[in-house]
Amino acid sequence: VANKAQKPAPPPEAATSHPTYRIQQRFSVPFAYETVFTRDALDPDNAALVEVIARREPTRRHRILAVVDAGLAAAWPELSGWLTAYCDRHAQRLELIAAPTIIAGGEAAKNDPDVIARLHAVFHQHKLDRHSFVLIVGGGAVQDAAGFAAATAHRGIRTVRMPTTVLAQADSGVGVKNGINLFGSKNFVGTFVPPFAVINDGRFLERLATRDRVAGLAEAVKVALIRDASFFTALETAAPALAAFDRDATADVIQRCAELHLRHIATCGDPFELGSARPLDFGHWAAHKLETLTAHELRHGEAVAIGIVLDSRYSFLAGLLPEEDFERIHHVIGRLGLPRWHDALAIPGAGGRPLVLEGLDEFREHLGGDLTITLLRGIGQALDVHQMDGALIEKALGWMRAGQTTSPKP
Ligand SMILES: NC(=O)c1ccc[n+]([C@@H]2O[C@H](COP(=O)([O-])OP(=O)(O)OC[C@H]3O[C@@H](n4cnc5c(N)ncnc54)[C@H](O)[C@@H]3O)[C@@H](O)[C@H]2O)c1
Ligand SMILES: [Zn+2]
Repeated sequence: VANKAQKPAPPPEAATSHPTYRIQQRFSVPFAYETVFTRDALDPDNAALVEVIARREPTRRHRILAVVDAGLAAAWPELSGWLTAYCDRHAQRLELIAAPTIIAGGEAAKNDPDVIARLHAVFHQHKLDRHSFVLIVGGGAVQDAAGFAAATAHRGIRTVRMPTTVLAQADSGVGVKNGINLFGSKNFVGTFVPPFAVINDGRFLERLATRDRVAGLAEAVKVALIRDASFFTALETAAPALAAFDRDATADVIQRCAELHLRHIATCGDPFELGSARPLDFGHWAAHKLETLTAHELRHGEAVAIGIVLDSRYSFLAGLLPEEDFERIHHVIGRLGLPRWHDALAIPGAGGRPLVLEGLDEFREHLGGDLTITLLRGIGQALDVHQMDGALIEKALGWMRAGQTTSPKP
């Protein structure tokens, strides 16, 4: 009671009256890693993997633990034997310390924190140290989860990523982020850590489900739209071949997309996203919300395709993007076999407004600072804005709904 009656303490005297000593700390850390595009990376005659692993200490024997996507392991039962044969052949430089650790494929890897605990336990059991290698073989979700586990054990164990989906080879697998979902929020927990190296093996794509092959192309459309008009034209030309999953056309797109992504990280001046702008997340504010709203029934790439249509339509309605450019975007997404609508877009939220609009606020929260959304003022020309007009978003959604194609079926 007495405490309640007390007056608040007076403000401290002006800061100048306090002796102050400051030390300015400043250093920078150069990062360098190689992304190798190859086929049959686990053929013992293919030296790419052993070379990237041994690049810093060529005479040492390197300890390797593989973490493998369960979906990939089911599609490629040969994988474990290949790994053993590869490390046997290169036994002077590689030591496979255990059978691969298999973790759930797809978003399940990121939705269950026990996956991380289990990986930490395996790393501990096998005494991995900061110079050991975790070889992560799998889709983007497994890369994100196992990458996070490796980044947080001993404050960071080296990783070599072997992404095995179109999306992961073209986009997420070559980048610097990892993370898992928590509290129903995409990538709520995660770190920025560049990999030691990336090996993109086109062979793995051969047994990927059609739906996953197609979904990955959305990130190529995205990066073309914000960075490279000629790449977008190439995507239009190649769309029929890509939709039919022509091997060479797909390999070209993956390589070009990965190059644009890597160039952005190297030259944007903000590789660890300390600012609020995130052009590579064009179309993603709605996409992340849609993934959650559909309980991840929608693939990330599918959600991104829908998010691109929404933000492109919005850009047009806001008077930023010429209508013929919007038409080209809408057309190529359909031609690639990507979805342009999902019924979850129509789920009502507070005040009857579409629930997906909450994605804007969640996006801002995830980034911090002011809301920054990337829109388009042309194909290959991005533009940052700091607010979006809810009524105009609803108008864009109304247009999309009116012309809806069917939602993808699992
Ligand atoms: N870290 C980043 O910067 C970043 C960027 C974009 C996306 N992502 C994340 O990536 C995830 C999506 O990744 P994705 O599109 O690669 O899909 P995915 O990882 O969800 O995999 C899709 C399915 O394919 C299976 N699979 C993987 N490789 C296979 C193969 N070669 N053959 C047969 N089946 C195979 C998996 O088991 C899974 O069932 C999302 O969680 C998304 O948030 C991360
Ligand atoms: Zn993405």
